[in-house]
Amino acid sequence: MKAIKLDENIYWVGANIHTEDLFEGIWPIPHGVALNSYVVKGEKIALVELVKEWGNASQTLIRRLRSINLKLSDIDYLILNHLEPDHTGFTHLLKSINPDIEIVATEKGTALVDAFYGIKENVRAVKTGDTLDLGNGFVFKFVEIPNVHWPETMATYEMKSKILFSSDAFGSFGVHKGSIFEDETPQAYLPYWENEMLRYYANIVAMFSPMVLKAIDSLAGVDIKMIAPSHGLVWRGKPEVVINKYIRYANYNRDHAEPEICLIWGSMYGNTEVMVNAILKGIASEGVPVTVHRVPNEDVSFILADAYKSAGLVIGCPTYEYEMFPPMKYCLDLFKKKHLWYKKVLFFGSYGWSGGAQKDFDELSKSMKWDMLEPLTFRGHPTDEQFEKGVKLGTELAREVKKIPSKIKNEEYGMK
Ligand code: FEO
Repeated sequence: MKAIKLDENIYWVGANIHTEDLFEGIWPIPHGVALNSYVVKGEKIALVELVKEWGNASQTLIRRLRSINLKLSDIDYLILNHLEPDHTGFTHLLKSINPDIEIVATEKGTALVDAFYGIKENVRAVKTGDTLDLGNGFVFKFVEIPNVHWPETMATYEMKSKILFSSDAFGSFGVHKGSIFEDETPQAYLPYWENEMLRYYANIVAMFSPMVLKAIDSLAGVDIKMIAPSHGLVWRGKPEVVINKYIRYANYNRDHAEPEICLIWGSMYGNTEVMVNAILKGIASEGVPVTVHRVPNEDVSFILADAYKSAGLVIGCPTYEYEMFPPMKYCLDLFKKKHLWYKKVLFFGSYGWSGGAQKDFDELSKSMKWDMLEPLTFRGHPTDEQFEKGVKLGTELAREVKKIPSKIKNEEYGMK
């Protein structure tokens, strides 16, 4: 198990893990996740980002360090860009093994070092513009990027190599497949990374999109040769590709989503289900790409990714005890939490007696900045006229979605 060289005296010492555990206790990671950690060897030695004891990650880190003749006790500085425990869980044990190690984080980060791990001694707070000289020409410069993903987050820029250790920014779910570098990744693997990166963004980062754009603005003048995030690929060939990808993602909840539709449905006895095909027929007549998901059968993590990128949403939901079908309500609660704003939306569904799902839906979606089409609700099984109406509404939604200008101008955000 070897360290992987990024540049002279700079190595990746992270771990690719597969686990049945849910990421953050919520999100499935069927393709695993990379916990990236890096070593910079100046006269002093720094570890940038850590791992948590998850899927053998800490042993993997120790073995990779050993491959470059380093032990945990040799590390002088531990740079914690972000305190979420997927990157810091091993801190307590590392400090026990190496009590002299100095931990570097933002001021808010140092409070969490204490809160999570009870460590107060030998902790240094840094702010934007502060530097740390490791010797042999290696100098870290710190840039606070609050709320990408937590308030204490910063990025660390190594000035000699021009490598940006970007924390969660530009990260992804998924393990590396044969190489940690994007420029060694075969074309055939790119759809895998696209999916895992979008799902990571929609699940973890979406709510913080304005801060992502702000962070990218604050890095606009920095000469970046390589981006080394805390998850996913290391962007060595063309770092601007992932920056532009993140700009695009950040704009999906600012009225610049893709001209696509995501249809999500749930059904108790098939009456809501039978309307799905009528609406799909209308959408198909306009040739608009569509993804279809059923709740509760599919995990909301995957639904979020498709819904987040799509300009149009169709919500098919029956009434359940005077309200929305509970799994749909959970799904839409997460849409609200993750700021899936500015969508063109069609709601439909069956009810038996008094109805109530639509009223519940109207209340829940009030603050979502959604542009609603006329809803289509029906008692029991839909009639032929209602099926026709479903086709018409599907067509109408698809036409609305086609009008949306999806392509944003990256240069608006200071990127080359
Ligand atoms: Fe990968 Fe927000 O921690």
